Amino acid sequence: PVPGFVDALVSKMTLAEKAGQLSLMASAWGGSTAINPASGSNANFDEQVEEVRKGMITGVFNGSGTNMCRIMQTAAVKESRLKIPLIFAADIIHGHRTIFPVPVGEAASFEPAMAEKTARAASYEAAAAGVDWTFAPMVDISRDQRWGRTMEGAGEDVLLGNLFAAARVRGFQGPDLKAIDAMMACAKHFAAYGAAEAGLDYNTVDVSERTLREVYFPPFQAAFNAGAPSAMASFNEISGVPATGNEWLMRTVLRDEWKYDGFVVSDYTGDMEMIAHGFAADAREATKLAFMAGVDMSMTSGFYRDHLPDLVEKGEVPMERLDASVRKVLAIKAKLGLFENPFRRIDEKREVARSRNKTTIALSREMAKKSIVLLKNEGDILPLRKGGQKIAIIGPFAAGQHDLNGPWCVYGDNKLAIDLETGIRNALGKSADITVVEGSEVEAPLAGGIEAAVAAANAADVVLLAIGESERMSGEAQSRTSITVPAPQQALAEAVAATGKPVIVVLKNGRALALEGAVRNAPAILVTWFLGSESGNAIADVLFGDYSPSGRLPISFPREPGQQPFYYSHKPTGRPNPSDDKLEEYKTHYRSIPNSALYPFGHGLTYGKIDYAGLAPQEGTLPWDGEIAFTATVTNRGTRAAEEVVQLYIRDRAASITRPVRELKAFRKVALAPGASETVRFVLRRKDLMFIGQKLEPTAEPGLFDVWIAPSAQAQGVHSTFTLAAA
Ligand code: IFM
Repeated sequence: PVPGFVDALVSKMTLAEKAGQLSLMASAWGGSTAINPASGSNANFDEQVEEVRKGMITGVFNGSGTNMCRIMQTAAVKESRLKIPLIFAADIIHGHRTIFPVPVGEAASFEPAMAEKTARAASYEAAAAGVDWTFAPMVDISRDQRWGRTMEGAGEDVLLGNLFAAARVRGFQGPDLKAIDAMMACAKHFAAYGAAEAGLDYNTVDVSERTLREVYFPPFQAAFNAGAPSAMASFNEISGVPATGNEWLMRTVLRDEWKYDGFVVSDYTGDMEMIAHGFAADAREATKLAFMAGVDMSMTSGFYRDHLPDLVEKGEVPMERLDASVRKVLAIKAKLGLFENPFRRIDEKREVARSRNKTTIALSREMAKKSIVLLKNEGDILPLRKGGQKIAIIGPFAAGQHDLNGPWCVYGDNKLAIDLETGIRNALGKSADITVVEGSEVEAPLAGGIEAAVAAANAADVVLLAIGESERMSGEAQSRTSITVPAPQQALAEAVAATGKPVIVVLKNGRALALEGAVRNAPAILVTWFLGSESGNAIADVLFGDYSPSGRLPISFPREPGQQPFYYSHKPTGRPNPSDDKLEEYKTHYRSIPNSALYPFGHGLTYGKIDYAGLAPQEGTLPWDGEIAFTATVTNRGTRAAEEVVQLYIRDRAASITRPVRELKAFRKVALAPGASETVRFVLRRKDLMFIGQKLEPTAEPGLFDVWIAPSAQAQGVHSTFTLAAA
């Protein structure tokens, strides 16, 4: 609801002030912060403050820090004509000063409730630094691992994407948007940004409306249902129309169909970029197209500030439309409590006091250890015993405070994060018998590196090989053509493996990788993503068995880099290759490899030995308006405690629109002591079986379904069938 005073305010605004209220700019502040009083200098800031006094900008982004916020907010509410408060925005993606794992890592926990907690903690810190609005969560589904922004979302699956999208929104916003520890969430990037052709960031997207509705839209709907009042338009075009100028997307679907009453901001210069797309002839036309399509606020380009007044004066943009967008922005500022107290999130002491306190650091470690995925553990080489053996930590990520926080971490400091060596020393204390060798740079060989690594491996009992991607290799604009471990590190891995010493690969990665040679063949492989502030401690927790790994892959690891796009819930073809490993002629497969993943979605080992039994009912019936409950028993036959992510998948055998070979419909993480069993129960209803039908509407059709309760998308687990009965 728009409060009455908003209407009164709008009636007093000039056209220029209205356009200013829809123009967000990057902060020109380069000065000191409460956290780092000595930093920076301020060349262009005065000009920006003058713009604020004139009411020409609605707020700034990239400007966390109460020092800056106080000066700007004072200019807005004390020195501008209408005294409208500014809004401060920032990309708080996975923490502010305490850094949590990259979102794809958090998704590997399969615990949305944990992501809600880390988002809450991010708000606790960032809102104390003046931030009202975060450009998160990113809810784009990513099914092509060449795309660098996989790291910023919840992976390839729609259900997981929905649950994490909603959890993050709840976490960032908390129960009350006015609270001093609440930030407004922004669901981005609307839409289908992750479907860029060839995984190339910003590239063309050409997907069917059905796929949009079934795969790419649902996490946005989940974020909106959880209360996200803002959304960001994506950079890409969809089937010929840039998202930023896409009236069907932003009016027909978002506003008319979904009744979304939040506001849409462009992604950076998204309006300007429509000229480069070849969709708008010039700045004026780009402004008109973006605004009329439904982008309420322009980020960075200044196009709205420069062209909206003239477009309204000439009758090309109706004043009512302009007023409606201004009202929405003012109403959200009111909801954030900014009219009541524009300085509510601007408190220098609170900024310092809330930065990296013990509770958030402990939460970071908790989330980090839950994000780690154990891909392989031959001969139960893990966990390692504490002490009594010599460990060589080898690789560019063995030691040193770099690449720990990961991409999209604007305010975190790698120098404050725990590296692998430190984590291991913390775990082992005085019994530590460790050598550390870099061995290779991330993307280039290191003179003498391999020789030193081989010598260290030869002198050790076990090797931890810390290799993978640097933080610059994933994230925005970091698409890769070949998603492998970089060649110099692969050479290092081959040389170290040739010593015959047991090698545990500790992989750093922002996307799924195609593992090759000695990396793939190592007896143990841990996926550790970019884990943030407590990286080394969390990895040590898992390596030494203080925590039994419970993470599961939210993205499929292919056998070879050429298997992209690649995701478990693909459609069957007319020529499937059921005996995956036999590579039958004229069946669907590449010449040299089976179609299956090397490590599928949902895969992840524990230190327990979990078995699945007794799926019931067999051949059950789901009444049209009823439900069906499936139960299966999971037992830990190992000698160590474990947490198992029990997953329920279905397949619709025949439908009027072809259906994926498997779809995740439910999951639950259960803790199992050695020898313990638990019977897990899942309930399915008709709505869980729905798909986007021939008329592009959610549809369910009676018929036969498979159901698996299994430890991954590729595992057989236990299987049954059921029938959805006719109405
Ligand atoms: O929020 C981001 C977006 O995800 C990518 N372009 C820049 C924006 C603001 O930093």
